[in-house]
Amino acid sequence: MKLLVINGVNLALTGRREKTIYGARTLGEINADLAVFCAEQGHEVEFFQSDLEGALCEKLGEAEGKYDGIVLNAGAFTHYSYALRDAIAAISVPVVEVHMSNVQAREEFRRRSVLTEVCRGEILGFGENSYRLALESFWL
Ligand code: DQA
Repeated sequence: MKLLVINGVNLALTGRREKTIYGARTLGEINADLAVFCAEQGHEVEFFQSDLEGALCEKLGEAEGKYDGIVLNAGAFTHYSYALRDAIAAISVPVVEVHMSNVQAREEFRRRSVLTEVCRGEILGFGENSYRLALESFWL
């Protein structure tokens, strides 16, 4: 399988921001481990990160026909971006929504995702392992 992991706004700061919530490992370190994990399982994976809503929408739009599945942590865009929601709905590639933290156990505004309805599923609360579990969902 060819898979794509997309990280949205502020996720490039992982390992430096709010370490008690998101951990001390950088996004680069997390992605490097995910690349090894996928290779071991015989799958290809690519990574993309942007703080820009439009860039994330463009990447989703270009994904049609190129990937078998997408893992998406949209960061705070999760809670209000109808543009991202429409971009996910516009493609037939299945998208699994991911959050490192348990957003249901945090502030009220994080409890609502405008993306879940158009995603294949959602994994949250397992730290960086949320990405691994989401990737695994494509081949299990
Ligand atoms: C997050 C949760 C979001 O509410 C937050 O805005 C993030 C990260 C997570 O991975 O837990 O930036 O998506």
